[in-house]
Amino acid sequence: MKPRVAVLISGGGSNMVKLLESMEGDHPAEPVLVLANSDSAGGLAKAQALGTQSDFVDHRLYGEDRAAFEDALIAKLDAVNADLICLAGFMRVLTSHFIERYDGLMLNIHPSLLPKYKGLHTHARALEAGDTEAGCTVHEVTAKLDDGPIIEQARVPILSNDTPDKLAARVLIEEHRIYPSALRRFVEAL
Ligand code: GRF
Repeated sequence: MKPRVAVLISGGGSNMVKLLESMEGDHPAEPVLVLANSDSAGGLAKAQALGTQSDFVDHRLYGEDRAAFEDALIAKLDAVNADLICLAGFMRVLTSHFIERYDGLMLNIHPSLLPKYKGLHTHARALEAGDTEAGCTVHEVTAKLDDGPIIEQARVPILSNDTPDKLAARVLIEEHRIYPSALRRFVEAL
């Protein structure tokens, strides 16, 4: 049976769209759910338009209780028998409670050349440091933030007139390329 993929998002979901499109036709995995942490995530409607069920769990209802929020996510994921999780711009930190549930079955895309610039504001930090290149990384998720075995990276040169936004736009193009290819490679190796 094909692994059943759920994509977790917080925003516009452009990476999610590329993942869903990549799983059309002959692919070793199938998308079953797009799950957001707010009903305002723009990607929810895009998932529906692509024929994939979408849903949300509003993290604000759970306050500081991360385990309860994560249990609500897990309940939605269990309802569709999801077995592989792709984080795609999901902006909530997940604890080991959630991560251990999907041990070895969760991927993330991060807009830096990990292990450099874990966390937020990656492009501004790369520019501030005077780096000559930036990029993005698809990696397996482990309990440590933006850590875990690297599956694929893409490099983007930093230009002399770059701003964080300009750089982010060029890195995003590479994110859209490597996330689908890393997902396929990961599933083929399961
Ligand atoms: C991407 O740059 C992702 O790497 C970062 O947030 C952005 C999400 O973009 N963590 P989108 O929602 O996939 O368009």
